[in-house]
Amino acid sequence: MPPVRKAIIPAAGFGTRFLPIAKAVPKEMLPIVDRPVIDYVVEEAAASGITDILIVISRDKRAIEEFFHSHPSLEAALRSKGKSSELAIVSAPNQRARLHFTWQQEMLGLGDAVLLGRTFAGNDPCAVLLGDTIVTSSDPANPVTAQLCAAFNSHGGSAVALEEVPEDKVSRYGIADATPIGDRTWRVHQWVEKPSRESAPSRMAIASRYVFSPAIFECLAATPKGLGGEIQLTDAMRLLASREPMFGVQFNGTRHDIGNPAGFIKANLEFALQRPEMADSIRHTINSLAGS
Ligand code: UTP
Repeated sequence: MPPVRKAIIPAAGFGTRFLPIAKAVPKEMLPIVDRPVIDYVVEEAAASGITDILIVISRDKRAIEEFFHSHPSLEAALRSKGKSSELAIVSAPNQRARLHFTWQQEMLGLGDAVLLGRTFAGNDPCAVLLGDTIVTSSDPANPVTAQLCAAFNSHGGSAVALEEVPEDKVSRYGIADATPIGDRTWRVHQWVEKPSRESAPSRMAIASRYVFSPAIFECLAATPKGLGGEIQLTDAMRLLASREPMFGVQFNGTRHDIGNPAGFIKANLEFALQRPEMADSIRHTINSLAGS
């Protein structure tokens, strides 16, 4: 298998958990401090060695494409005023990787969005990063997607990020039926979608980052509509696990699901506290609100 250089970022979903704002503003464009969620996702992919990224968008999501275009008039204005740090900030997003865009016509689910990347991926392995989820690694030099690429290369099979969730939350996730085979690495025998607490084979949940062999596309094409009338990526992963070895990597870090308002607010607080110019004032506000 060649090294993993391609990634698909699905960002076409309706975002019903984030209405009414998602009616007009893609949830992937909501700001975490001053950058849209999807810019962090693209940054993670690029820092993991990905050179080509296909972003799946849809109607009313053009702002995503615009954000990653260069803005010559703004750049010229900043240059003429000598605002070099602002210029670097403005041009960074469109320089992270080669970006490609495609449209999902009907919101037929995450599996359908990933399947739209079939021609883009061709016979190459391909990462998938959900566009509404930021995953920070406790080792910033080794992002979670990079950890999956490394597992893909060393084990020779698709690798999925896993997160240990509390027993009473397993029924919200796709869960791995898996055996540990090394440091934070699991051999996945099968995936179980939203199991009950009693029937869950483990507490290791699928955590929004994947590296797939090209066989995932055949599996997606063979997957009928499932839960909610949508093509479920987890269903295709079940088929893939019955055909090829699959692996899980329990990452060290934090997953921020920005697809719901509470996740968005928590992520903003956490990222703001890491910014020296505002950390003290934000901490002061949090403390005084918590005390009142
Ligand atoms: P979600 O599972 O959060 O789905 O998608 P959603 O439909 O956007 O959100 P809710 O449940 O209605 O609130 C995870 C990622 O997959 C993309 C989303 O844009 C998000 O980045 N997605 C989802 C698609 O690209 N197409 C789809 O049909 C569904």
